[in-house]
Amino acid sequence: MAALSSRRPFVGGNWKMNLNRSEGARLSRECADALGGMADAIDAVIFPSFTLLGDVRAHLTATAVGLGGQDCSPHAKGAYTGQVSAEMLIDAGATWSIIGHSERRHGLGESDELVGEKVRHALHSGLKVVLCVGETRRERESGKAHEVNSRQIRAALHGVDPSDVARVVIAYEPVWAIGTGLSASPEDAQEAHREIRREVCALYDPELGDSIRIVYGGSLNPANAGTICSLPDVDGGLVGGASLKASDFHAVCAAAAARAGA
Ligand code: PGA
Repeated sequence: MAALSSRRPFVGGNWKMNLNRSEGARLSRECADALGGMADAIDAVIFPSFTLLGDVRAHLTATAVGLGGQDCSPHAKGAYTGQVSAEMLIDAGATWSIIGHSERRHGLGESDELVGEKVRHALHSGLKVVLCVGETRRERESGKAHEVNSRQIRAALHGVDPSDVARVVIAYEPVWAIGTGLSASPEDAQEAHREIRREVCALYDPELGDSIRIVYGGSLNPANAGTICSLPDVDGGLVGGASLKASDFHAVCAAAAARAGA
């Protein structure tokens, strides 16, 4: 297993479908101020809704805080009403995209195959990707958590060149923990992350498996981030609710940064 500090911590703030332009501008200003000193230690990235990308970008330009979209079309351009392409995200100043979030897999019926197409297209276009995977409560209770995570990872990384995998961060987000206030126990989170790392080792090679960043998502907050981010195979977090308050997002980033110094 690679030394803890060899993987640069990553924390994403997924604002989901929240905030208007002035609220988004205010929060991005506050986050930029709060995170200024941490830029050397971690990758912190804000994922606002598409309509806020331009405003948020304006407040992050002179900072090391990154910007990403919450999804990305598998197509480059054309008759795809409602979709946003990788090229459009890049044009708006984003360098990252979340792909395969459970609110799209389960809420909108996105298949493993579609997630894989999106991942390949985003990487091909030059974006970095936060690939979300995670099991439902029913799948966990029936002992299928690892099987589900492995299946989602294999489909999402199918055909992805090893040289592109360095631009992928995997977010393990148990569906039952998202937005519920119930986070995975440290033992379950560590086990899931270790299994995901093993899967990447098996798909590629041990070096890549050891170097890929795997972050936890699902009710991560200032109270549990210290414990979860210090687990051996957890390299940071993807934060929903707690990313809507600059001081909470800062606290989660600080927990991830503390790991870097471990
Ligand atoms: P949550 O969301 O922190 O509100 O649980 C996490 C996510 O969906 O990325």
